[in-house]
Amino acid sequence: MRIGILTGGGDCPGLNAVIRAVSKSLMHQAGAEVIGIEDGFLGLIERRVRPLGWNDVSGILALGGTILGTSNTANPFKWQGRDVSADVAAYVRELQLDALVAIGGDGTMTMAAGMASRAGVPVVGVPKTIDNDIEGTERSFGFDTAVATVTDAIERLQTTGQSHGRVMIVETMGRYAGWIALEGGLAGAADVILLPEIAYDVQKVAAVCNERAARRLSTIICIAEGAKPLGGELTIERRVDYSPDPIRLGGVAHALREQLQPLVKSEVRATVLGHVQRGGSPTPYDRVLATMYGNAAAHLIRERNFNRMVAVQGEKMHSVDLSIVAGKNRLVPPDHPMLVCAEEIGVCLGRP
Ligand code: F6P
Repeated sequence: MRIGILTGGGDCPGLNAVIRAVSKSLMHQAGAEVIGIEDGFLGLIERRVRPLGWNDVSGILALGGTILGTSNTANPFKWQGRDVSADVAAYVRELQLDALVAIGGDGTMTMAAGMASRAGVPVVGVPKTIDNDIEGTERSFGFDTAVATVTDAIERLQTTGQSHGRVMIVETMGRYAGWIALEGGLAGAADVILLPEIAYDVQKVAAVCNERAARRLSTIICIAEGAKPLGGELTIERRVDYSPDPIRLGGVAHALREQLQPLVKSEVRATVLGHVQRGGSPTPYDRVLATMYGNAAAHLIRERNFNRMVAVQGEKMHSVDLSIVAGKNRLVPPDHPMLVCAEEIGVCLGRP
């Protein structure tokens, strides 16, 4: 057996743990040969691959980033204005791969689904993103690590904010889904949590800050990068023309600071966490989840059960058809128990 592995899209803690687990599982149980594809689908387009032996995938469980490199700009269906998916499929056949393991987020899963259905490549997907918004699975690896980073940041902002009696805004990642802000905000004891799923009323947020200041308390506001004010727009940092998703978000914390400062007496400061949330070593939870995912992907390959993405439901690993994952985002539902809990303990979600 011979398999290829690629990591696509933005990086995420736990990618190396998946590479290690899927490789070791297939080497250990099926004597498989593993080919590492460099920089996601770009490596298949530019024919850049290298063999991965047991030693290459040893000692990388706790390593952040990806030993294979990644790309969030290379799409075989739209590469420099051309559809090169047939060339990519031909290269996969030349490499004599029995299966291609694509570890990535919604963009990578959409490309993987296309390579499976339109170009006949046998694919197994593994869901990666710190945003935790991949359809079909309850948890993507990398999310727990990002939440731990946000929690730590909020705790640090609590002490400095309280010392100065300030309103401290912390911006997390989360383009369309607010999972990181919600869990990080709850874990860090934020007073206000603002998500892309709920347009916020700045007057309500200001009222919380002023009421807390009257009690000599500082306020922590945890806001996801994709959050919008009522009737307002996304805060776009810049647009790029080389990526399947041309919008780069960032800066909503500063936009909120501008809206809020005239309405409150305390000084308002903003911190954008950015890529700090994606870097570093995965938490023990993410190491285990990524290992379980990698092993589950190896199972699918040995069963020749292709064109599926491994998924988790409760404690159990299962898999879903790639077509149900492609092009979707799993948002925080309005009645999610964590939202209900947040409001019941007095956290403001910015609702009008
Ligand atoms: O999809 C994960 C994510 O971290 C988003 O929350 C964020 O908007 C995006 O990646 C940033 O990606 P890039 O590093 O390409 O700017």
